[in-house]
Amino acid sequence: MQRLDRFLSAAGVESRRKLKDVIRSGRVTVNGTVCAVPDQKIDEQNDVVALDGQVIGRGDRRIVVMMHKPAGCVTAAADDRYPTVMEHLPPVYKRLMPIGRLDMDTEGLLLFTNDGDLAHRLLSPKHGVEKSYYAEHTGTADEDDIAAFAQGCVLKDGTKCLPAVLEPLGEGKSLVRVREGKYHQVRRMLASRGKPVSYLRRISEGGIELGDLPVGMTRELTEPEIEQLDTVDFDENFFKEN
Ligand code: URA
Repeated sequence: MQRLDRFLSAAGVESRRKLKDVIRSGRVTVNGTVCAVPDQKIDEQNDVVALDGQVIGRGDRRIVVMMHKPAGCVTAAADDRYPTVMEHLPPVYKRLMPIGRLDMDTEGLLLFTNDGDLAHRLLSPKHGVEKSYYAEHTGTADEDDIAAFAQGCVLKDGTKCLPAVLEPLGEGKSLVRVREGKYHQVRRMLASRGKPVSYLRRISEGGIELGDLPVGMTRELTEPEIEQLDTVDFDENFFKEN
């Protein structure tokens, strides 16, 4: 543990005397929250300290952040035409990269990290990480739809999907669990069964649940949650059980 002003002066940001004013003026955040107390103790190994939104010091701590992505923004670092998910990411996390994508119109769980290996593992088809979606669609899913998902949907362009799980939730609502990430996959799977999607939200990925995080908000994953992501791997019983 170390005092915030000492940490910043050791990082060469300003002289200690000036730093007190800088901190008191509210320009410094610790883990995304303003800290205006120069002698506040911080954990220099784990806390993310930022000045005017720029992370200071080592910044090599492994971070995974979840966002409840709103509809109406694209998963990209920058875009000429549309708002991006980056606009919903607090400045201290601007150096993180999104793990995979959600469509512009899809809401829900989107993970960001500074750990390239973790991102690669979660995205690699070899690992087949499970993702769950809540969908609202035309019509009501039935036994034939469940069977078609379990066999692997054939999309309208002939693309064959891996087996997936469809769980009808009543009229016009379903849960879908997939282990791959083709372009607009869930929308296209349901459309292939004559059930175009009007609303889609990802609710979990690799065992991490979106929970009640409000739309547009972010939070850091806890250490046990990150460990959970470290251990996710292809579950060969997935297709047998369902
Ligand atoms: N499937 C879709 O159709 N859209 C997404 O954003 C993710 C999965």
